[in-house]
Amino acid sequence: MLITNIKALVGVHPKEKLFLRGSELNGLPILENAWLLLENGLIKDFGLMSEMPSHISNLTSQISAEGRFVFPSWCDSHTHIVFAAPREEEFALKIAGKTYEEIAAAGGGILNSANKLQHITEDELFESASIRLKDMIKQGTGALEIKSGYGLTVESELKMLRVIKSLRAAFPIPIKATLLAAHAYPTEFKNNHQGYLNLIINELLPKVAEENLADYIDVFCEKGFFSNEETAQILTAATTYGLKPKIHANQLSSSGAVQIGIQHQAVSVDHLEETDEKVLKALSESNTIATLLPSCSFYINIPFANAKGLINSNAIVALASDYNPGSTPSGNMNFVVSLGCIKLKMTPEQAVNAATLNGAAAMELSNQIGSIAIGKKANLFITRPMSSLAYLPYSFGQSQVETVILNGEVYHG
Ligand code: NIG
Ligand code: FE
Repeated sequence: MLITNIKALVGVHPKEKLFLRGSELNGLPILENAWLLLENGLIKDFGLMSEMPSHISNLTSQISAEGRFVFPSWCDSHTHIVFAAPREEEFALKIAGKTYEEIAAAGGGILNSANKLQHITEDELFESASIRLKDMIKQGTGALEIKSGYGLTVESELKMLRVIKSLRAAFPIPIKATLLAAHAYPTEFKNNHQGYLNLIINELLPKVAEENLADYIDVFCEKGFFSNEETAQILTAATTYGLKPKIHANQLSSSGAVQIGIQHQAVSVDHLEETDEKVLKALSESNTIATLLPSCSFYINIPFANAKGLINSNAIVALASDYNPGSTPSGNMNFVVSLGCIKLKMTPEQAVNAATLNGAAAMELSNQIGSIAIGKKANLFITRPMSSLAYLPYSFGQSQVETVILNGEVYHG
């Protein structure tokens, strides 16, 4: 397939660029008035219209993208899209002023989702997650990570991971799976934390490894959830099974979670709504990616992460959706990018880089996706006609995505 007359081909980073650190995020290379050739699911070549080789101009499968931008697909590196039911009953409580912690403490929150998940079949979970995933793809997402964490028993965590495996087989985009059994303590282990940790370490992890069901380990390292010491225990055990950490850190408090992640060579530490100087310094000196989730801050009214501080201190910053039924009931990456600009004060270039190449890096996929480079996967989207790059985040709450292309073919969903 040949795409011609592209007003702006966005994200033409050198292929060897696998992540962008600090001020590197400022540069989003763009080719104006370009063509792009896709073959066998990959990006074959691209260039300026004025220099298009004559032998490709008569290819039969052509799209003219006049006035339009072509972006590499969004790479959403943090989601919880497998869940049994939405939780809009908590919505009214939030509006009335209850905090995320208060709702969780009153039996809502993660435990509420876990109760619902016990009684639902793998097929039903697959069906509802598929609907969410199709919506995300239509909004431009072309690679994602999905976590377990609403099972909280050996059986139900495995059930969630098997659903993620089925989604991976059914959908034409890369999907990474993360074991998040340490999302909350189940009620029966409320006063026996070590009991639940033992269950994860001695029973669940070996099964997950045996069936090869997860790429990463995650822990909700937070006051009232998993302590630093408990987190370290799980990360240490998971590492012996080859699962690298991607952890929930500093969402509600700054308690050392980021540093624990870094000590365990986490691929990413995610949330970081509570970022202090120590966090900035630790991340500036490490390859662990700081993944920010501004839709979560927006929805549960907590502070927005200090993206500018992180970028100025030379950290690697990514943006992701955090799509889940409790803190972020949306997987719209266009809105995430808008919030990146409006609330995190990132420039459009920084936000796009964070949601594409650095998002791919946070899933260890940036050698195959996240930018426009020869040999990379042809997962991209063509926008509606747009006046400039900034129009995409400026037009918040709307999607400028007009045509989605996955593996070199138009996606009809
Ligand atoms: O990333 N913080 C922990 N996990 C999710 C929320 C989970 C839920 O409330 O269901 C998050 O915000
Ligand atoms: Fe999350």
